[in-house]
Amino acid sequence: MSALSELYQEIALCQQCEIAKYRIRVVPGEGAEDAEVMFIGEAPGWHEDQQGRPFVGPAGKYLDELLASIGLRREQVYIANVIKCRPQGNRDPLPTEIQNCRHWLERQIEIIQPKMIVTLGRYSMAMFFPGKSISRIHGMAQKRDNVIYYAMYHPAAALHQASLRRAVEEDMLKIPSFLAEAEVMEEVKQEPQQLTMF
Ligand code: URA
Repeated sequence: MSALSELYQEIALCQQCEIAKYRIRVVPGEGAEDAEVMFIGEAPGWHEDQQGRPFVGPAGKYLDELLASIGLRREQVYIANVIKCRPQGNRDPLPTEIQNCRHWLERQIEIIQPKMIVTLGRYSMAMFFPGKSISRIHGMAQKRDNVIYYAMYHPAAALHQASLRRAVEEDMLKIPSFLAEAEVMEEVKQEPQQLTMF
């Protein structure tokens, strides 16, 4: 059994948060174990909860289109969320839920060892770019400890706000060149707080 499949079995047993009681399916994440790019969204919604797969509703369809715009299929990347269970009524994740779920995401990153981590929306951005504002840093890449971190608006936000659509589409188009430059990109020296992954 692959390291990811073993991890999924462990995640499926997790009952650390109240929301675990109400989920239909846990949504650990999916994609290639050797993916170069890992996309991290917020939390499963209704569709994801039904299917146990990330980004399969309208935002997911849009994410598939965005991936296609750079010649990628979802099977070639890895897609996960900050939290693995659906918050009831699609409310925002609570700080305790994010905290409880964090170690699963850390294990996914350890297994996949992506070259590039793309945060989708403010919750995953906050984990890797603490204190930053998405309107200021979207579309900008930072290399730290040999990983490129890159913040984008959430595809669902772009679906609801036409003004963000262009930004999301342009930011997606920049990913291949960052990947191509990964080896030679300079590391960012930052304050210690920002050097910690979470
Ligand atoms: N939005 C997310 O952040 N994640 C999903 O899996 C679906 C919608």
